[in-house]
Amino acid sequence: MTGRLAGKVAIVVGAGSIGREVSNGAACAMVFSREGARVLCADRVPEAAQDTVARIEAEGGVASAFEADVRNAAQIKAMVQACLERYGRIDVLHHNVGVEELGELIEVTEESWDRVLAINLKGPMLTAREVVPHMIAQGGGAIINISSIASHLWSPTQYLSYSTSKAALNHMTRIVARQYAKHQVRCNVIVPGLIDTPHAAALYASEEEAAKGREQRARRCPMGRQGTPWDIAGAALYLASDDARYVTGIELVVDGGVSL
Ligand SMILES: NC(=O)c1ccc[n+]([C@@H]2O[C@H](COP(=O)([O-])OP(=O)(O)OC[C@H]3O[C@@H](n4cnc5c(N)ncnc54)[C@H](O)[C@@H]3O)[C@@H](O)[C@H]2O)c1
Repeated sequence: MTGRLAGKVAIVVGAGSIGREVSNGAACAMVFSREGARVLCADRVPEAAQDTVARIEAEGGVASAFEADVRNAAQIKAMVQACLERYGRIDVLHHNVGVEELGELIEVTEESWDRVLAINLKGPMLTAREVVPHMIAQGGGAIINISSIASHLWSPTQYLSYSTSKAALNHMTRIVARQYAKHQVRCNVIVPGLIDTPHAAALYASEEEAAKGREQRARRCPMGRQGTPWDIAGAALYLASDDARYVTGIELVVDGGVSL
């Protein structure tokens, strides 16, 4: 297999997407595979992980599914063990999982806050904590976290817990990057803008509302369109590859200029 990730093994956490259109995580898994990586597709929903595996296999790539919830340390440990047993190494950890729940300061409940922080912040900590010792033993690796421009900006639709968790994820990325740089373990975070995904479309009450929402989101983007999961995957490929071998601790904003 040739390609920018030839010989490498990637874990994509939150790799699923069900339906015709792919999500951010699935597109990243597919692009890693197209560039030669073998990919462990992990997801809380096993059919979702399997769906991405089927897409990769249909293109002639090598991938397999694993069921894990990022909040569960034992499941994350088992995921890493499964990757080592199946493929013998881990070069790339791509942490895509992220959820949002509506609510500004005086509305947010403790349950909602705790759930969002557990998935968006504890999750990437647990996965990186489990993977880093193996990357050190191997002589290096690349960790990619997925944040959001909500980590930088106020927005009229308030997702306080989401925005706060993503801002903390940006800083955790920098700390991990600095801590393990001497081991050639790189850690970077992609900061997406408005991305047209099945998940984003599903936030609207009806298909009609979703179509209207898509148009409004596109109008807000200086490039005249929302981003796509393939735009995120292109950035992830760069960070995963040796082209980024001297790049660590950065926030790579992929937003078509929407935050300018
Ligand atoms: N779409 C946008 O406009 C946008 C903008 C900025 C950032 N993002 C970020 O992109 C990422 C999501 O992108 P996507 O399109 O792949 O989303 P998605 O909602 O389709 O999620 C991908 C997968 O994550 C899985 N998942 C959810 N909770 C999980 C858990 N606890 N453990 C394991 N797996 C779990 C889901 O089952 C799903 O298959 C998030 O981090 C999100 O914050 C999206």
